Amino acid sequence: MYSIEIKNVSKSYPKDPEIQIVKNISLSIKHGSVFGFIGPNGAGKTSTIKMLVGLSHPTEGSIKIDNKSPDDPVLQKKLGFMPESPAFYQYLTGYEFLEFVASLFDIKDTDERIEKTLKEVDLLHAKDKRIRTYSKGMLQRLGLAQAIINNPDILFLDEPLDGLDPLGRAEIKKIILNLKSKGTTIFINTHILGDVEEICDTVSIIDKGEILVTGSPSVLSQGYKDLEDAFVTMIQNRRKERGDILIEGH
Ligand SMILES: Nc1ncnc2c1ncn2[C@@H]1O[C@H](COP(=O)(O)OP(=O)(O)OP(=O)(O)O)[C@@H](O)[C@H]1O
Ligand SMILES: [Mg+2]
Repeated sequence: MYSIEIKNVSKSYPKDPEIQIVKNISLSIKHGSVFGFIGPNGAGKTSTIKMLVGLSHPTEGSIKIDNKSPDDPVLQKKLGFMPESPAFYQYLTGYEFLEFVASLFDIKDTDERIEKTLKEVDLLHAKDKRIRTYSKGMLQRLGLAQAIINNPDILFLDEPLDGLDPLGRAEIKKIILNLKSKGTTIFINTHILGDVEEICDTVSIIDKGEILVTGSPSVLSQGYKDLEDAFVTMIQNRRKERGDILIEGH
């Protein structure tokens, strides 16, 4: 029933072992749902997603993805990950880059799969252009393409809507909802709240490594103007409780 189970996970880095970047978070994310992890800059979103895909490890607590450890090689083939700022080989074309990714996943029908994926992210027209000539939006689309080329069961997207114009955002949202309709579980880091309301079944608000609240966007917005108002108010209240210094008017 749950694709992602996070239990009492904390993370600190060896350089500052006393500073917890992620503080005792627990989450259960249902199979086939779209989950939004929302929080301001430096909240711990990327640190969390890196632990979920096995690129980093919790200092405390446990993570299970489809009942397996994120490091499990069988599981790894079923995951898709779009990092925050994907780095590409600039001299390759989009097509050549995806050929390289496909080879890592032992994909057999490579040409067919690449064409289908490029079409899905609307990048087929630029497949033979070198990546260094791509615009920011095109790079985002290529980042998404490399994350879905293996038809993942669980897809992790770190700020997939960043740098896209409204048209591009609408297209990516459509792709996300299409993947959801096929049963993919999707975990999204973002701070674009309007988009979250449209595509996420459940969201958690995280600030300074702590999850403040988890629920559906409509439930979290109750009693507030909208989700953004709920987000800002909850974070400010928590910071006041902690005794953080607040700037007047914020
Ligand atoms: N390798 C690292 N070593 C030490 N501290 C780190 C490391 N990576 C991240 N941090 C710190 O962890 C905190 C959380 O960073 P993280 O990148 O997870 O935030 P985020 O929520 O993804 O922010 P943003 O919205 O800006 O992407 C920050 O204070 C950051 O400086
Ligand atoms: Mg981040």
